[in-house]
Amino acid sequence: MNQPNESTQPKVAFIGAGNMGGAILRGLVKQGYPLQTLMATGRNEAKLQALAQETGVQVTTNNQQAAAWADILVLGVKPQAMQKVCVALATTVQQHQPLLLSIAAGLTSECLLGWLGGELPLVRSMPNTPSLLGVGVAGLYATASVSPQQHAWVEQISQAVGQAYWVEEEQQLDAVTAISGSGPAYYFLFTEALAVAGEKLGLSPELALQLAKSTAAGAGKMLAELADSPAELRRKVTSPGGTTEQAIQTFVNKGLPELVEAATQAAAKRAVELATALKSS
Ligand SMILES: NC(=O)c1ccc[n+]([C@@H]2O[C@H](COP(=O)([O-])OP(=O)(O)OC[C@H]3O[C@@H](n4cnc5c(N)ncnc54)[C@H](OP(=O)(O)O)[C@@H]3O)[C@@H](O)[C@H]2O)c1
Repeated sequence: MNQPNESTQPKVAFIGAGNMGGAILRGLVKQGYPLQTLMATGRNEAKLQALAQETGVQVTTNNQQAAAWADILVLGVKPQAMQKVCVALATTVQQHQPLLLSIAAGLTSECLLGWLGGELPLVRSMPNTPSLLGVGVAGLYATASVSPQQHAWVEQISQAVGQAYWVEEEQQLDAVTAISGSGPAYYFLFTEALAVAGEKLGLSPELALQLAKSTAAGAGKMLAELADSPAELRRKVTSPGGTTEQAIQTFVNKGLPELVEAATQAAAKRAVELATALKSS
């Protein structure tokens, strides 16, 4: 990436810089994004001062001030808090017309724009928790009025904490939620199950857990860094008649692919239900 330059960088304000907003903000700081072009808001003055000390960004408890200043306004509060925050910002954002970037799970563009007083350029992002370590992956959806320049800005911001991919249809974000948003927990569950299985095979709980965790991390690194597809990587460690083949056949015969499909369908369905509940609350 080119070194960010203060004169060409848009001003980015985070309305709420907790776990996820804070991770993206720290990612931008780490990449050398000019501190004068970053601002964070919150309700707790002490937490904000600690953030300012740590990162050097500007902080305020005044959301209006941030909204009037920013070219990009990242909506980083919890979904349950979003309506109140957006309604209070409506007049300011309608006047200043910043690009809105919502990282809130579930809340649709229609719902957010309704609270924000009408049409504005808006991008919805569905990040995931590995963003906290800079290795996240996010799905992005842009409403029709987002310009090519604003698309590029959002990509730059999202890539500060990992990778980002656009989806064409807003409802595809429910699938993104089911695959990558909730996905880290699936790998954690599998790792837990593998550790328990190790204990049943006679290992100490500590060693079983360490083996399961390190194997997940190693396999993840191979997936991330090697060009082979997951199926190719699997085939390479599965010798005919060997031990891995026995385990893989058992997974397939007992319905692992169907189970994964059912689990992700359930997650996507829940994403729709939660969005509907938040919209009508
Ligand atoms: N964490 C994840 O893995 C994840 C994944 C995908 C999407 N998301 C989305 O990210 C958003 C934030 O989640 P989170 O986990 O980062 O929550 P969080 O850690 O609780 O952060 C929320 C932040 O919002 C601030 N805030 C609350 N009310 C505010 C207000 N009226 N004005 C300004 N700031 C306010 C809070 O600051 P104070 O304490 O000072 O009030 C806090 O720093 C959610 O919408 C969630 O759906 C999170």
